[in-house]
Amino acid sequence: MADPVVNAEYLKEIEKARRDLRALISSKNCAPIILRLAWHDAGTYDVKTKTGGPNGSIRFKEEYSHGSNAGLEIAIDLLEPVKVKHPKITYADLYQLAGVVAVEITGGPTVPFAPGRKDSSVCPEEGRLPDANQGVSHLRDVFYRMGLSDKDIVALSGGHTLGRAHRERSGFQGAWTKDPLKFDNSYFAELVKGEKEGLLQLPTDKALLDDPVLRDYVVLYAVDEDKFFEDYAESHKKLSELGFTPP
Ligand code: HEM
Repeated sequence: MADPVVNAEYLKEIEKARRDLRALISSKNCAPIILRLAWHDAGTYDVKTKTGGPNGSIRFKEEYSHGSNAGLEIAIDLLEPVKVKHPKITYADLYQLAGVVAVEITGGPTVPFAPGRKDSSVCPEEGRLPDANQGVSHLRDVFYRMGLSDKDIVALSGGHTLGRAHRERSGFQGAWTKDPLKFDNSYFAELVKGEKEGLLQLPTDKALLDDPVLRDYVVLYAVDEDKFFEDYAESHKKLSELGFTPP
C-alpha cells in the first residue's frame, strides 16, 4: 500500500483524530485495551526481515484471531468510527496515535507521535508476541528480535500499570495494580513488594526480578516515577516506530 502523504492537511486530520480519541477513550474507559492493541500491532516487528510492526495488519481477522490477540477485536471495533470519520489517516497511524492518547489521558507521560506509517495487508505468522508463561531468555529473544533493549523490556512492561487480564482471553485473571485506569509506577512498586492477594503478576512480570540487569530497572522505576515516565516515553516511541522512519 502507498505511503500516506504527510502534508498540512494530514497533520490537521491527526489533531482532529487525537481529540476524538481523547473523548472516546475517556468516555469508554478503554485505555488499557487500546494500549494493548497498539502494542500488539507493533510488537510483531522482526528487525532482520523488516516484517511485522506498526502497520495496521492486526485489523485483519487472520491476525487478530491469533491466540495472543484474544479480545483485541473489541479495540479494533472501538476505533473503526474514528477511521471512518478520518479516512485519510492510515490504520497504522490511528492505532499508534490511540496508544499514545491512552497513556496520556490516564495520567502517563506524553509520548511524541510522528505520523506517516503505511498500512500493510500482510499479517505476520502467529507466535511473534511474548508468551506470559515464559522467562527472561524468552523475553530477550522476543524484544531483541524487535530491535529493542533490556531497558525497553522493563520500561514497556510498565504498561501493565493499566488494565487487567481476563480468564476467557489469556487464561489469567485480574489487575496488576489497585487503580488499573491510572498510568503510574505502581506496577513496579507492587512487583518489588511481591505477590499479594487480589493482584496479578504474570510469570513474565515476576521474571523481571530474576535477572540482575532487568531487576535494577524494576527497583529504580519502583522508587522514581519521573525516571520511569522518561524511559517509558522513549521506549514507547521506539515501539511505535519499529520499521518506520518518519518522513
Ligand atoms: C494485558 C502479556 C507486555 C500492555 C496482558 C495480558 C497478558 C499480557 C497475558 C492479559 C490479556 C487479557 O487476558 O485480557 C504480556 C506479556 C508481555 C506484555 C507476556 C511481555 C513483556 C506488554 C507491553 C504493553 C502491555 C509492552 C504496553 C506497553 C498491556 C495492557 C493490558 C495487557 C494495557 C491490559 C489489557 C486490558 O485491560 O484489556 N498482557 N504483556 N503488555 N497488556 Fe501485556
